[in-house]
Amino acid sequence: MGSSAQCRSGIAIRRLNLRKSTGNNTGMDVTAFNRQAWNRQVEGRNQWTIPVTSQQVEAARQGEWSLVLTPTIPVPRAWFPDDLTGKEILCLASGGGQQGPILAAAGAEVTVFDNSPAQLGQDRLVAERDGLKIETIQGDMANLSIFQDYSFDLIFHPVSNVFVPDVKPVWREAYRVLKPGGAMLSGFMNPLFYIFDFDVMENENRLEVRHTIPYSDLENLEPQRLQQFVEDGSPLEFGHTLDDQIGGQLEAGFLIAGFYEDRYPQEIISRYIACYIATRSIKMT
Ligand SMILES: C[S@@+](CC[C@H](N)C(=O)[O-])C[C@H]1O[C@@H](n2cnc3c(N)ncnc32)[C@H](O)[C@@H]1O
Repeated sequence: MGSSAQCRSGIAIRRLNLRKSTGNNTGMDVTAFNRQAWNRQVEGRNQWTIPVTSQQVEAARQGEWSLVLTPTIPVPRAWFPDDLTGKEILCLASGGGQQGPILAAAGAEVTVFDNSPAQLGQDRLVAERDGLKIETIQGDMANLSIFQDYSFDLIFHPVSNVFVPDVKPVWREAYRVLKPGGAMLSGFMNPLFYIFDFDVMENENRLEVRHTIPYSDLENLEPQRLQQFVEDGSPLEFGHTLDDQIGGQLEAGFLIAGFYEDRYPQEIISRYIACYIATRSIKMT
C-alpha cells in the first residue's frame, strides 16, 4: 500500500545499461522489473505481502470482516454489495493473501490478478490452508485482455497503480470487464507525495520540494540515485496527476459515487496532509 523505501530491489543493472544504450528511459521493461521487485518484497516480508490468518478467514466466513484500499481506514461495508455470495470479484493488483481470501470466505467468486507470482503464491497458500476457492492469474493491470467484457460485479483495487507508468489503460480495462451496475473500489496516491525529495523525507524527516508532477522514478531521479534504487531493490514508482487518477476514471465512463482520504502515520507528510485517496466508481450501463 503506497510507496515504502524498504521495498526497492536490484535486478536490472543490465537493463540500466540497456537503457543507457537506448538513451532514454522508455527502454526499460517496468512490468518485468516490478514483477521481480515485488517477488523480493514477499521475501523481505513487506507488510503488504503478509497473508491473513486462519482466524481472520474463519471470522469472514461468519460475516466478520473488513478490508483496506489505503493504509489505515477500513472500506465502508456500504461500498460492497449487501450479500457477496456468488458475486464475481476481481482483486486487481491485489495479491499478497490479504484481500482475495477474505472476499472468498465471505462467499464471493474471487479472481486475484497480480503481476507478481510470489504475491499470487500468498493467495494460493491461504486458499490451500483454509479450503478456499480462489483463481489466481498473473498479468499487467493495464492489460486485462484475458477477461471478457462484463465479467465482474466488483473490482477491488488497492493502492498499486503507483507501479505503472500510465494509469489510464487500467481505468479503461477495469470499466470494460465490469458488468453494468458493477463497482470499482480503488486506492491511489495523491500526487503531492511525489513532489518531495524522498531521501530527505526518509533520512532527515523533513519535507523538501524537488520534483514535478507527473513524477517518474525513471525520469525525475538523478541517474546515480536511480541506479542505487535499482540496486537496492524496490519497485519503480510513478506519481500520476489527479487528472489521470480521477479524470481518467470519468473519461473511462465511471461515475464516482464514494470518496475518502487516508494517511500513513509512518510518513512525515501525514502530519500535514492525507496522501492516500479511495474512490467507489460505478459503471452505470
Ligand atoms: C501495495 S500492493 C497491493 C496489494 C496488497 N495486498 C495491499 O493491500 O497493499 C501492490 C501490488 O501491485 C502489484 N503490481 C505492481 N505492478 C503491477 C502491474 N503492472 N500489474 C499488476 N499488478 C502489479 C504488486 O505485485 C503488488 O502485489
